[in-house]
Amino acid sequence: MMSYGYKPQLSEGAIKCPIFQTSTFVFKNAEEGKAFFEVAYGLRAQEKNEELGLIYSRINNPDLEILENRLTLWDEAEEAAVFESGMSAITTVLLEFLKPGDLLVFSSPLYGGTDHFIKKILPKFGIHLLEFTIGESKAEVINRIQESGYAENLTMLFIETPANPTNDLVDISSKKEICQYFSLPEKPVYLAVDNTYMGPLWQHPLKFGADLVLYSATKYIGGHSDVIAGACLGSHQLMTRVKGLRTFLGNMASPNTGWLLMRSLETLKVRMDAIAANAEHIAHFLNHHPAVEKVYYLGNLTEADGEAFAIKNKQCLSNGGMISFDLPGGEKQAFKFLNALKLIKLAVSLGSTESLAEHPASMTHADVDPKVREKLSITDKMIRLSIGVEYYEDLIDDITQALEKSME
Ligand SMILES: Cc1ncc(COP(=O)(O)O)c(C=O)c1O
Repeated sequence: MMSYGYKPQLSEGAIKCPIFQTSTFVFKNAEEGKAFFEVAYGLRAQEKNEELGLIYSRINNPDLEILENRLTLWDEAEEAAVFESGMSAITTVLLEFLKPGDLLVFSSPLYGGTDHFIKKILPKFGIHLLEFTIGESKAEVINRIQESGYAENLTMLFIETPANPTNDLVDISSKKEICQYFSLPEKPVYLAVDNTYMGPLWQHPLKFGADLVLYSATKYIGGHSDVIAGACLGSHQLMTRVKGLRTFLGNMASPNTGWLLMRSLETLKVRMDAIAANAEHIAHFLNHHPAVEKVYYLGNLTEADGEAFAIKNKQCLSNGGMISFDLPGGEKQAFKFLNALKLIKLAVSLGSTESLAEHPASMTHADVDPKVREKLSITDKMIRLSIGVEYYEDLIDDITQALEKSME
């Protein structure tokens, strides 16, 4: 993956891909310019050995193309597209595949920004919505779609698994079966999966039937809290549509963002391995701390958890790096804990080298309907930790002293 898609001889022998900080590219002649545009705008199909030439950085740029080719390797996807944020990847997919009158079915909880876009923006475009929660069976969801009166208009299922911030799991292949149940040859129903929480290393939704995989690349892919970016992966056919809308919305990543993400990808595996190993130590500590009421961590699932345990074993390759936990004293105690942290930073976001802590109910998920929050266990008691690569004993020391202060 590290050297994939880059030819040093095309860049003065530079061992690393330079930042192609340019808005436009010079054509060799007018015929070449015409040919590039014909392919880029879909006026004719690309010929067998024809490469899509560089045109204009809203359409293509080497930093984005090489990064996209490298990203496809992790998920074994045909094609990828990178965006200037995770939200722009998600919203571009939703806008491309949905039209007025269509039905979108989605899992709950979702990241607060996705929840906002689906519930507050999509209805303005005449999209019908159906939300299902983690415990609902395939038969129940199928039944509810049929009873909604919009079954024929079902176009997409959008899921996030593990869900942010509760680590609740959605069975990807079972959701694909729902898509297949309602698909017609002339009207397929697509499954889109936000894989941000597991990153490209720990879960591969395409293998379980997803049509599109989405990432906030701000998280594990970027991994250093210094870039906002997003990515979408899927088949050549679907990605042509996604990239087409990206060209006209103009929300592609910049060359500099592409370069930063390529640099980050080189350490993706070592960072994520270190994070997962650290998270195991922290979860073990929290599980045994008397002040902690409940811990939400994939590694805590056992056979007694039934379906959730089976889903984890089927589709997750790691317990991940995200841990949430409840403190019995509600917001007051949670805030005391957060304010007392010294090493762990009080900030939203996740998947970075440094550990972060936040209060989902009043921060990332503040916009989610309080009744829905309560139902999903995103209460005032909850703290979300994103574990980094620091020495785990330092993290445990910090959590220990902050828990002590939270009880004063
Ligand atoms: C699960 C999930 N999806 C999508 C997003 C949105 O990504 P971005 O902030 O890069 O736009 C986030 C951001 O926190 C997230 O946690």
